[in-house]
Amino acid sequence: MTLTSGQKISEPVPGKMPRHVAIIMDGNGRWAAKRHLPRAAGHRQGVEAVRVIVRAAGDLGIEYLTLYGFSSENWKRPVEEVNDLMGLLRLFIRRDLAELHQNGVHVRVIGDRDHLDADIVAMIDEAEALTAQNDRLKLQIAFNYGGQNEIASAVRRVAREVKAGTLEPSAITPDTIAGFLDTAGIPDPDLIIRTSGEKRLSNFMIWQGAYSELVFSDALWPDFTPECLREAMEEYQRRSRRFGGLDASGQSGKV
Ligand code: IPE
Ligand code: IPE
Ligand code: MG
Repeated sequence: MTLTSGQKISEPVPGKMPRHVAIIMDGNGRWAAKRHLPRAAGHRQGVEAVRVIVRAAGDLGIEYLTLYGFSSENWKRPVEEVNDLMGLLRLFIRRDLAELHQNGVHVRVIGDRDHLDADIVAMIDEAEALTAQNDRLKLQIAFNYGGQNEIASAVRRVAREVKAGTLEPSAITPDTIAGFLDTAGIPDPDLIIRTSGEKRLSNFMIWQGAYSELVFSDALWPDFTPECLREAMEEYQRRSRRFGGLDASGQSGKV
């Protein structure tokens, strides 16, 4: 199958599949700098990569795809860049929502909406309502998302229940906290990919990623292709996930 961009989509990856793939889409600014273009041009090209990867994810058999689009720390950037990024979320929803819906994509936005412009919140609400019944690919966009804020907000909700007398402190388990996160009901990411060669989480899925496999790609996000995604999934398939136990051959690591 060929995309409108001319890029080939890979066939489904045989073998053990990650149900949930999450991507820290990094490197738009460097992509632009390499071409002596403004950072905004890198972000625009980054949206093109989002469109291609979302389409490819369904074809590769991924059930849940989460894309980190704007962190709670990205407000530290110049106001013009923040505005560009907000504008691109608007553009993405406006331009792609109907097609995503047609293709059975369920869209959900995670992160703090309180400080987003009212029109963006309305667009997010519309996208979520329109696609709520779709189940071919579950797409989470992490926007104004920060793992520490997400956990703090979950703890606030737990504290309120304790205060109201509806929850006993002794009954609080990891599942209680997980149930109050933005990702409640979504399986933890099996695979977290970060592009652009940076090797950190930058406050992404710090709770949910406790046992995620991490794959770092040197590709800058606008250059990340379905083939790069496929390679990351193949790397995932070579990993041995033990969750603190032993693997099938009784080993606790590579020997
Ligand atoms: C990722 O690209 C997009 C966002 C963080 C919003 P960057 O803008 O971080 O690009 P670099 O890291 O400066 O190259
Ligand atoms: C992480 O990238 C956030 C997103 C990809 C949305 P950053 O570029 O903001 O992260 P740092 O500053 O390099 O850690
Ligand atoms: Mg960056």
